[in-house]
Amino acid sequence: MIKSKYLLFGISFVCIGGYTVVFTSCAKEKGKLVAVAPPPAAVSFANDIMPIMTAKCTNCHSGGMQNPDLDTYTPLKASVDNGTFKNRVLVLQDMPPGGVPLSAADQQKIQVWLDNGAPNN
Ligand code: HEC
Repeated sequence: MIKSKYLLFGISFVCIGGYTVVFTSCAKEKGKLVAVAPPPAAVSFANDIMPIMTAKCTNCHSGGMQNPDLDTYTPLKASVDNGTFKNRVLVLQDMPPGGVPLSAADQQKIQVWLDNGAPNN
């Protein structure tokens, strides 16, 4: 009788311990996620996206040198709408060419802007 009581105590202790471990590991993971990827609250085409284009894209993609022109909204939006923009910049990551994709921060801005419907804001 005494033995089984100890056994029960032992089992419930292990269970509670198990829950504690699961709980703390979840809490840690949540904290980590927030720290790694704070989504930019609002992304503006003029203030966030255009500067990336000017710095990384328009030396080739402007003035009809290379389709699409990326120095104005309309042709850029057309390439968003036909899927090539996201595919080349975020999926294949071969634009800009040369083996160095956009920084994670720039890619995240573009992702948020696309998720918002690529507005001309
Ligand atoms: C060094 C010149 C150069 C730079 C810089 C460059 N591109 Fe390109 N891009 C090209 C060339 C050349 C092509 C056409 C050949 C190809 O599809 O690979 C192209 C093709 C594309 C296409 C596909 C167009 C289509 O209709 O299939 C997209 C979208 C694109 N680039 C976006 C970008 C973006 C966005 C940037 C900046 C982040 C960028 N490119 C930077 C030269 C460049």
